[in-house]
Amino acid sequence: MIRVLHSALTGTALAFIAFPAVAQAPGNTETASDAILSVPPIGGDRIAQGKTIYETNCASCHGANLEGQPDWRRRLDTGRMPAPPHDETGHTWHHPDADLVTIIRSGLGAVVPGYESDMPAFGGILSHTEITDVLAYIKSTWPDRQRDFQAEVTANDLAKP
Ligand code: HEC
Repeated sequence: MIRVLHSALTGTALAFIAFPAVAQAPGNTETASDAILSVPPIGGDRIAQGKTIYETNCASCHGANLEGQPDWRRRLDTGRMPAPPHDETGHTWHHPDADLVTIIRSGLGAVVPGYESDMPAFGGILSHTEITDVLAYIKSTWPDRQRDFQAEVTANDLAKP
């Protein structure tokens, strides 16, 4: 899985490099941040809400401090992968908003068909607003570098035809 997501990521990174005009647009940082349509701005109540939702629904696997499961890069005996961290040591920040929302709502199989994973689908449990609140909380824990990178990846994803 990690390999599949990473090759998807490499595709994104290459696409990004292939369109330097986007990267060089004046005021690009602002533009990239503004382009986050699905996730509310960092700040305020939504983050506090997201933290509560995270603690109730996600922390049991992804860790109370978003640290992931121990040895999260090593496949379990079941053949599935452990839960990765959501902090800057993981790869959540490699993915655009749309993919993150889809993974949380519908599970990883929704982005990689046929892929078996222990990540539950929360579509029947959390509303879209609750899902974007959790993402706002997760993003609020990232240093600027990860947050800016993820905003760019999201902007490039939104710019795709
Ligand atoms: C039962 C354990 C479990 C719970 C609860 C859980 N997850 Fe996961 N999650 C996983 C596992 C395991 C993976 C990695 C799956 C894989 O690669 O096969 C994962 C992967 C993810 C990914 C993809 C990360 C990446 O970089 O590829 C996201 C995003 C995610 N989870 C968000 C959440 C959120 C948000 C919640 C709470 C609403 C949550 N998860 C609750 C087990 C869980």
